[in-house]
Amino acid sequence: MIMKNERRDFLKTAAIISLGTATHISKAGNLLAVEGVTSAFELPPLGYAFDALEPYIDAQTMQIHHDKHHLAYVTKLNEAIEKEPSLKGKTLEELIKNINGTPESVRGAIRNHGGGHWNHSMFWQLLKKDTKPQEKTLAAINANFDSMENFKKEFEKSAMGVFGSGWAWVVVNNGKLSIINTPNQDNPLMDIATKQGKPILAIDVWEHAYYLKYQNKRAEYVSNFWNVLNWDKVETLVKG
Ligand SMILES: [Fe+2]
Repeated sequence: MIMKNERRDFLKTAAIISLGTATHISKAGNLLAVEGVTSAFELPPLGYAFDALEPYIDAQTMQIHHDKHHLAYVTKLNEAIEKEPSLKGKTLEELIKNINGTPESVRGAIRNHGGGHWNHSMFWQLLKKDTKPQEKTLAAINANFDSMENFKKEFEKSAMGVFGSGWAWVVVNNGKLSIINTPNQDNPLMDIATKQGKPILAIDVWEHAYYLKYQNKRAEYVSNFWNVLNWDKVETLVKG
């Protein structure tokens, strides 16, 4: 359940941002409009109900994950850009693809919060119950991993191999699929990633993504992920 005050603040934030004014949320939760700023990144809507992924991902986790964690990445990304005017007007992808070239004073903030915003914006779209792998996805998985069973095994192994917080991904490079993982909020689009590529599938293995329901049982969360993976979305990314 969203508490009344939180809902009010969220709506207020959304309203102010939609008017084209960047906002900050202070530690006390008060909104401060920043004069002279005409654009800021926004928290995208989840696109479905918090309980839409039950019983595999619980409503409370989804609400906190989207309304608190993702919002914090967006807010802190906007704060970092405020500190470094040369970054204003850049797209999110332009920002995260050039971490090495980002002024040092905000490099860590852009990496963590820009990455956090990009990763979660993609992740919400990758979640939907009751979808099945489609033609192009199946062909690509069979060609690269021999079978769906083997692919799932390799992906789960990668997700389990993330030490601490991070993500496991499937990326495409010149038609070839690979499974990789990244620490924290890094992603395969970043110039600092050890392996780059276009992400087509991802799982968030930060504890905030599963701890309320699964506690320390990451393996159970990861194996249940197949019940909520939006294969329809994966198909559009494989094709693209
Ligand atoms: Fe997350």
